[in-house]
Amino acid sequence: MNIVIVGAQWGDEGKGKVIDVLTEDADILIRYQGGHNAGHTVIADGHEFIFHLIPSGLLHPGKVGLIGNGVVIDPEALLDELGKLQARGVDIIRAVKISDQAHLIFPYHKRLDLLEESTRAGRIGTTGRGIGPCYVDKVARCGIRVADLCNPKVFAEKLRQNVTEKNRLFELLYREPPLSYDELLARYSGYAKQLQSHVVNGVRFLHDAVAQGKRLLFEGAQGTLLDIDHGTYPYVTSSNATSGGVCAGAGVPPTVIDRVIGVAKAYTTRVGEGPLPTEFAPALMEQIRTKGKEFGATTGRPRRCGWFDAVVARYAVIVNGCHSIAVTKLDVLDEMETIQICTGYRSGGRIITEFPADLDVLARCEPVYESLPGWRAETGEAASFEELPAAAQRYLKRLEALLEVPICLISTGSKREQAFKVGCW
Ligand code: IMP
Repeated sequence: MNIVIVGAQWGDEGKGKVIDVLTEDADILIRYQGGHNAGHTVIADGHEFIFHLIPSGLLHPGKVGLIGNGVVIDPEALLDELGKLQARGVDIIRAVKISDQAHLIFPYHKRLDLLEESTRAGRIGTTGRGIGPCYVDKVARCGIRVADLCNPKVFAEKLRQNVTEKNRLFELLYREPPLSYDELLARYSGYAKQLQSHVVNGVRFLHDAVAQGKRLLFEGAQGTLLDIDHGTYPYVTSSNATSGGVCAGAGVPPTVIDRVIGVAKAYTTRVGEGPLPTEFAPALMEQIRTKGKEFGATTGRPRRCGWFDAVVARYAVIVNGCHSIAVTKLDVLDEMETIQICTGYRSGGRIITEFPADLDVLARCEPVYESLPGWRAETGEAASFEELPAAAQRYLKRLEALLEVPICLISTGSKREQAFKVGCW
């Protein structure tokens, strides 16, 4: 079975943990969008490993990961991650493949990301990794791909054009010193030598894998509400984080996808700017942020936290075509006396249950809450749905009813063992 994992909120839903659990049923793990703005945390054998670019199931022996054409790659970040994986005993040449059609991030992208953020009227709160500017170049058709990196003559020419163009911007618009073409050429030529043995034709690689009956697991990064088309634009990332991004970002037809699983936290978080209708007041924010260790895995920034927003999650179920939902971090709510679920928004005297595209309307929406009793008991030891406290079961059943899809997995802690499947995918 070929499965897609997507975030059903604003990213950081605990996808890394869910992917780690699902990896036992997969042969090939694929990233299809985003870049090292992602941070998928896996805790195995008491050690924490944060994957940024490499698919996060690779700590399991024998698995192969593909960084698909829809991903934007910072070679320096990738080599750093490959080194860490190798230190853990993984045969990285065998295990990590890179699509020759993926685009590359350069220092000028990172610099532009930071400059644009500092001069923009309304900050987005990007991760500052150069993700947006790299996708801009891709769409503007001046980007540089992995295939170009592997062809010294083509690479030298494309880099020269890009550096000339970007330096003009730095000097004339931002009054910044130029970047050195020679230095970049030397540095990236070195990366080419180190990465060459990982490069494959991604389309052919996955086509052959499907023909051989290999099981694929597509790892979405970020989340539905950060999707460039379907998220809270402009407070979004620059790629299609939804399941629709799989076909374009990995080079597979829609017919290979058997299942889509949305991942949602038992509450809601977001990093960076933009609307978060169910955001907590400061005291509760502090409590949940501390208990849930809600600090960005990539930037360390504190995450904003709020109650579970069923309008958002239901929207994610529809956009992604989720067959089921994995609910993570249930244990973070263990001490709550009462738990609220947002079931709709009050907008101009009426209740709406569709997520509005107009952020001005969203800003004036007031969440409508349903209150449920908390369970005030630890859930971290539960190994099945039946072992959860009755009030926790009731909460999850209510989420299922609101989202109109079954829950397939529940996670109650950061350790690999603290998760169990419920029913089927
Ligand atoms: P960018 O992807 O760095 O351009 O950032 C755009 C927005 O997406 C910002 O609000 C970031 O905080 C957010 N973002 C990007 N990657 C992640 C992620 O992996 N988890 C959560 N938020 C993210």
